[in-house]
Parts: sequence; C-alpha cells; structure tokens
Amino acid sequence: MAFNQTQVVLGGIAHVPIVVALFWFIKARFKSVSSESEQPSKPSNQAPTKPETKVASQPAVTTPAKTATPATSAADAAKAARKAAHAAVPVNLYKPKTPFEGSVLDNYSLLKEGATGRVQHITFNLAGSDPKFNYVEGQSIGIIPAGEDAKGKPHKIRLYSIASSRHGDNMADNTVSLCVRQLQYEKDGETINGVCSTYLCDIAPGSKVKITGPVGKEMLLPEEEDCNVIMLATGTGIAPMRTYLRRMFEPAERTKNGWNFRGKAWLFMGAPYTANLLYDEDFNRYKSEFPENFQYTKAISREQKNAKGGRMYIQDKVMEHADEIFKLIENPKTHVYICGLKGMEPGIDEAMTTAAAAKGINWSELRPQLKKADRWHVETY
Ligand code: FAD
Ligand code: A2P
Repeated sequence: MAFNQTQVVLGGIAHVPIVVALFWFIKARFKSVSSESEQPSKPSNQAPTKPETKVASQPAVTTPAKTATPATSAADAAKAARKAAHAAVPVNLYKPKTPFEGSVLDNYSLLKEGATGRVQHITFNLAGSDPKFNYVEGQSIGIIPAGEDAKGKPHKIRLYSIASSRHGDNMADNTVSLCVRQLQYEKDGETINGVCSTYLCDIAPGSKVKITGPVGKEMLLPEEEDCNVIMLATGTGIAPMRTYLRRMFEPAERTKNGWNFRGKAWLFMGAPYTANLLYDEDFNRYKSEFPENFQYTKAISREQKNAKGGRMYIQDKVMEHADEIFKLIENPKTHVYICGLKGMEPGIDEAMTTAAAAKGINWSELRPQLKKADRWHVETY
C-alpha cells in the first residue's frame, strides 16, 4: 500500500505524543531507580537495619566492611574524644632525678585472718607538691626505695599502679594510695625479700618517700557514662580496678565528678583464698547498691575447683561466662582491662580463643582489632 506525502506527514505527527510519552516514562523510571540508590544513611539516633545484624556476629571494633556505619562512626568519635582527653592526662611531673618527697599517711593490711602473704594499702601525702602532683584513674607512680643496692648505688625505681581515684581516698585531692604485695621467694634454702615491696610494706606513717610520675596512659577509663567495663584482675592487679569502681560507684565520687556511670562494670577477681580478696567489702557494697550496673565474679584459686579439677583461675571464670562476655564485647562501648600477674595472659588468651571459636569468631583476628580500637587494655608485671 502506497501513502501520499500528506498521509506520511499526518502519520508522523500522530506518533509525536507516543514518543513524548515514552520519553517521560523512561525519564521518570530512571529518576526513581537513582533516588533509591542515593538514599541518605539513617541518622545515628535511629536503629540501623541490615548492617546491625552483622555487628552481632562480628564485634564492631574498627571499620571492617561488616561493621554497621552508625556504630563505627560513633566508635570513631568516642576514640577521637578519648585521644583528646588522654592528651590532657598528666605524665612525668616528677622524674627520677627530681622526685617528689611525700610522707606516709597510712599503711595497713588488706588481708583477713587465714590469708597467705602480705598485702598493704599505703597512702602518701602529696600536699605541697609544686607542680601539683596530679594523676588520674589507671595511672602508676614510681617509688625509689631508701638506701643503696649491693654496688653502693641508689636503688632503682619500681612502678606501682595507683589504687586511689584522682581525688585520693579522703577526697581532698592531695593523696595517692597503693596496694603493695611483699615479694618473697625461697632461694638456696633462704627467704629473699623484694627490696621495694618490703620497704613499702614495712614503712611507718610519717616516713618520707621519693615518688615519681605519674606515668601510663594504657589503663585510662573511657569518658562515656554508658560505657561497659570488663575487668580481669589477679592479686594487686586490683589497684586500677579499685580506682574505676570508686569513680563509678562511690557516692562522694559521683557527686564530686558529676560523672554518673550507667553502663555495666564486671569485675573478675583472682585470689588464692577468700581471706586474700582485696577491697572485697567495698565491692560487695557496690554490688548491693548498683545491682544493675555491677557484677562481681571471684575466682578463689585454692578454695574452688575448675572444670578439670584444678585451681580456679579467672580464665576459668571467663570460660564459664563466655557468652555474656562476648555479647558485651560486641558492643563498641565495651572496654576490657587486664591487670596483675603476667602469667595470666596466656590463660586468658586461651579462654578467649575457645569462647570466640564457639561463636564463630577468630580471636587472633579480633584481639588486635580491639587493641587498635583502644578497647583492650593490659598492664601485667
Ligand atoms: P626486687 O628486689 O626488685 O626483686 C625482684 C627480682 O627478684 C625479680 O626481678 C627477679 O629477678 C627476682 N625474683 C622474683 N621472684 C623470684 C622467684 N620466685 N625466684 C627467683 N627470683 C625471683 N606490685 C605491687 O605489689 N602492686 C602494684 O600495684 C604493682 N603495680 C605495678 C605496675 C607496673 C606497671 C609494674 C611494671 C609493676 C608493678 N608492680 C606492682 C610490681 C613492682 O613494680 C615490683 O616489681 C615488685 O614490688 C617487686 O619489687 P621489689 O623491689 O620488692 O623486688
Ligand atoms: P595460685 O597462687 O593459687 O596459683 P596473689 O597475688 O594474692 O597471690 O593472687 C594471685 C592470684 O592469681 C592467685 O589466686 C593465684 O593462684 C592466681 N594465679 C596464679 N597464676 C595464675 C595464672 N597463670 N593465671 C591466672 N591466675 C593465676
């Protein structure tokens, strides 16, 4: 069939609306697809949806692909805030060549009848220090024992974790306390006493003591009131934990600091006998006053037995509570602090490896991530 010129022109014009409609349809469709893919991420105060489920199986510690974006940026912000706060923490106000000479205010035993060894709580007066001897929870000080070593030289400094909060036990901002175990061991049938620990355990109130520091930023507390803090301590490793717990739960501390801890604090404490538990009454009081916020788990090595019938160590308690611990660690606001015997580190690592594996998590990969995120804090000696 043949068309004349007019029919061709009219036919062409008749198709124009169809072409225009087709053009608008394609444009509208393209716009809707692209707006779906450009949707802004949810604001941080809204629960994230899909990525959050991945965080549950792999703790959000750095910025891995699996991590929920809002959680990561919150964690990054918290880390940046911590870094800024750490910059203001005092260090080396008093150096070994120019120590501060403090005086002993108090020195008493922390042990009960039936305990083994000797552990003392010792408080020094820092009044009159210029510059002012400030410190914060989680730091250590150095002590230079009086006298000389076998070569006639002054004794070297020994470090001790501070056991009082920045305000001191009397809240007057001018004392510092330590928790010191006397080192004693047998050699060739003779009892050897550690130089500095014996000097401190024996020291009488009023005596002058050379003090250096403060030092250390490894064991500082997070700033957030809703952080979670898991503490693993053996023996005198309780010292920094006591400073955290005072800051968290002592009414005078809460009032003075205006820092109202509302996260979860969980202390695992290892001691040979019940009579060796340090600051136990205070911790029991915190537990009864803040049952929602404080959990206190004791591993009494020579009174309790682990699953294999051996001595009960804190790593055995970690295994017992592995599920709850990992649930907490999945939260980017959770920090772990380890302090005390160096020997407990392999045991804790082993317990964490087993506990993590049961949840499909590779502990040797996760631990460095926690460390990098400034959430895994270790001070052992
Ligand atoms: P020393 O006279 O120096 O004797 C120690 C030496 O004795 C050892 O180096 C070793 O050569 C030898 N020795 C030890 N045990 C044996 C053994 N069984 N057999 C044979 N030889 C042995 N201690 C606390 O009590 N409380 C604390 O809060 C505390 N916090 C610390 C924090 C940090 C960061 C560090 C690094 C250490 C901390 N210490 C703490 C340990 C403290 O610094 C001293 O190391 C401890 O008090 C022993 O010192 P000393 O002078 O009594 O012993
Ligand atoms: P034990 O001495 O019964 O073997 P203290 O400093 O007061 O002696 O307390 C230290 C606590 O830590 C003790 O209960 C001690 O048990 C325990 N301990 C000793 N070695 C380890 C270890 N490798 N891992 C964990 N805990 C340990």
